Amino acid sequence: MINEFHRDTWIEVDLDAIQANIRQLSKRLKQNTVIMAVVKANAYGHGYLEVAEAALDAGAEWLAVAFLDEALFLRKHGFTAPILVLGATRPDDAGLAAAHGIRLTVFSADWIRSAREFLKEDTLQIHLKIDTGMGRLGFTDLKELKEAETVITDDSRMNIEGVFTHFATADEQDRTYADQQQERFLACLDVFEKKPAMIHASNSAGAFLRDNAAFNAVRFGISMYGLVPSGDISSEMPAPLTPALSLYTKMVQVKKLKAGDKVSYGATYTAEQDEWIATLPIGYADGWIRQMQGFEVLAGEYRAEIVGRVCMDQCMIRLPFEMKEGTVVTLVGNVSNDRILLDDIAAHNGTIHYESACLLTARVPRIYRKNGAIEKVFNHLK
Ligand SMILES: Cc1ncc(COP(=O)(O)O)c(C=O)c1O
Repeated sequence: MINEFHRDTWIEVDLDAIQANIRQLSKRLKQNTVIMAVVKANAYGHGYLEVAEAALDAGAEWLAVAFLDEALFLRKHGFTAPILVLGATRPDDAGLAAAHGIRLTVFSADWIRSAREFLKEDTLQIHLKIDTGMGRLGFTDLKELKEAETVITDDSRMNIEGVFTHFATADEQDRTYADQQQERFLACLDVFEKKPAMIHASNSAGAFLRDNAAFNAVRFGISMYGLVPSGDISSEMPAPLTPALSLYTKMVQVKKLKAGDKVSYGATYTAEQDEWIATLPIGYADGWIRQMQGFEVLAGEYRAEIVGRVCMDQCMIRLPFEMKEGTVVTLVGNVSNDRILLDDIAAHNGTIHYESACLLTARVPRIYRKNGAIEKVFNHLK
């Protein structure tokens, strides 16, 4: 581990937790439901390859990403499982996707007409996306949906493998809007002459908070990483789910400031008395953003506040007493009876844990644990 990176800040990803979460989640699904592991955005900051492998080993059968480049990256690294690109892909890349067995999300009849030019002998597997109320990607017009089916059916190099939608409010207690979306989606299914093999609508929250009888696949992101989609529905999600990601650093300098001394850019923090300040080698270029000022971390086992502005590569904390340089500081994770969750960071920053996880940049090395031991270290810079 020492030789793999040369910086005292690192993320630990517990692959056992990811696998346990998938098993836990799958217990509550109806039989034969296909699990798509959503590994877009570097697996929500956890690492594309390691999470994809762990998820497939734990029973996920598909992978889902946002963009074709992410899918090609997985193929390049040997993943042969079906991969669905959830976002938009250029029609010009239809042949490339087909050649790699990568499924594309399609939401316009014109796209299909354009894509035909770029297909060779490989069949492009298509998942038609219906916009039932998210207002993002998807067919909104049933006539156009029908037209899409006809154009695809007329071309032997394309096949409608799936049809799907996405809920805007699956993680809210009030089910009214999601129910309306589901009704619209079910009505759209009647358009098809031949029902597509895969019908999916639910993300983590949707999979457990509604009747999924009409669907045969789910798309798990956040819950697979051990996080509950939103506080609103925590009691209704399968439990226990174990957060897989921890973030650590070490104190690289510990110094005593005198009353009146200042800390960091803008000199926004002034020591009120003699204080012990530790410098940590993590900053906003790692995703530890400037809004983290004022947040508490665990210096050893003690809560310590981030004081002064967070810099690009460093930030400072106020210690309750003098501590040794090299002491481990937990930014996300458990220490004794205390813990800091990505949810806490998100609450501090006025955002959601999805964003806090994705913000952790590639510069931070990742240590992967499996069966309790270090399985792999990944340093993007190596
Ligand atoms: C289309 C689609 N499906 C599924 C997911 C996974 O959602 P979650 O992380 O809430 O499980 C996402 C994530 O944003 C998504 O955009």
